[in-house]
Amino acid sequence: MAEFTPRVFSGIQPSGGLTLGNYLGALKRFATMQDQGSWQTIFCMVDLHAITVWQDPATLARATRELCAGFIASGVDPEKSILFNQSQVVEHAQLAWIFNCVARMGWMQRMTQWKDKAGKNQQNASLGLFAYPALMAADILVYHATHVPVGEDQKQHLELTRDIAIKFNNDFGVDFFPETEPVIEGTATRVMSLRDGSKKMSKSDPSDQSRINLSDDADAIAQKLRKARTDPEPLPETVAGLEDRPEARNLVNIYAALADMTVAEVLAEHGGSQFSAFKPALADVAVDRLTPISTEMSRLMQDQAEIDRILARGAERAREIAAPILKKTYEIVGMVGA
Ligand code: TRP
Repeated sequence: MAEFTPRVFSGIQPSGGLTLGNYLGALKRFATMQDQGSWQTIFCMVDLHAITVWQDPATLARATRELCAGFIASGVDPEKSILFNQSQVVEHAQLAWIFNCVARMGWMQRMTQWKDKAGKNQQNASLGLFAYPALMAADILVYHATHVPVGEDQKQHLELTRDIAIKFNNDFGVDFFPETEPVIEGTATRVMSLRDGSKKMSKSDPSDQSRINLSDDADAIAQKLRKARTDPEPLPETVAGLEDRPEARNLVNIYAALADMTVAEVLAEHGGSQFSAFKPALADVAVDRLTPISTEMSRLMQDQAEIDRILARGAERAREIAAPILKKTYEIVGMVGA
């Protein structure tokens, strides 16, 4: 195997508001990975993925800028990391075409996200929705990224990315694309719905009470946590005591992640407390950690031109890496003039 420079890539779809789940599961982790400094970090707003289901154009543009503001407010530094939107780096779409010719119909048909999103009427879904995972593979491999932090639900897409890399390498007898390692989020950063501890917190849940939005103010955050579903028992003293108590575990996890503590440390402090005492403590930590982020996001959103400059500069830096890799791919495949 060839040696590849350690490089992290991840993407988020600009499709609606950001939640506490996005923050703890993605943005905050990305900022930590950036600051570890043992690899180059590249983060992308995947607007081409967002249109696999048509978006209102003005809403998409706003969501893209808001996501950029969310990255920065969460600690992703556009100087230390490369931060950009996918459509501005044409190499993603170009490599995706090559990968459309590598991936097999059968591979794509097995993707559970495709089956879920297309539903019963697959014949009426867009070709883009079907090809989505090949574009995702291109996002990653156009940088020869070695590590990709994602949620559990994206694991299958990363396996497909490896299959595409392996098949391309085999088909052309090269050792060109790396076999990317997924960095799957642990339960510690997996945030569940405040209404149902077995469901992931989601921006598409019809109940706004089920989630904390990064745009929520202090009152809304405190009110939602106060009303969060719980069971009648006090908090356990040990981590094992959280088993089979999904709502209690979720609130303790959120506390731990926001306060940068372990679950055991939180229970050492709060074990034995009733939720009537724990929830206000949790609300204090949440307000303390989240309001500076929402304030910074609104500040950044007031200067659209500045956000657009940051994205343009990020795209330029991304292309410096992507363009030579695409060129080499074209040469391998036999494109004249590459
Ligand atoms: N499919 C990912 C999601 O919905 C987003 C994504 C697109 C992505 N391209 C990527 C994630 C490349 C990691 C790497 O969450």
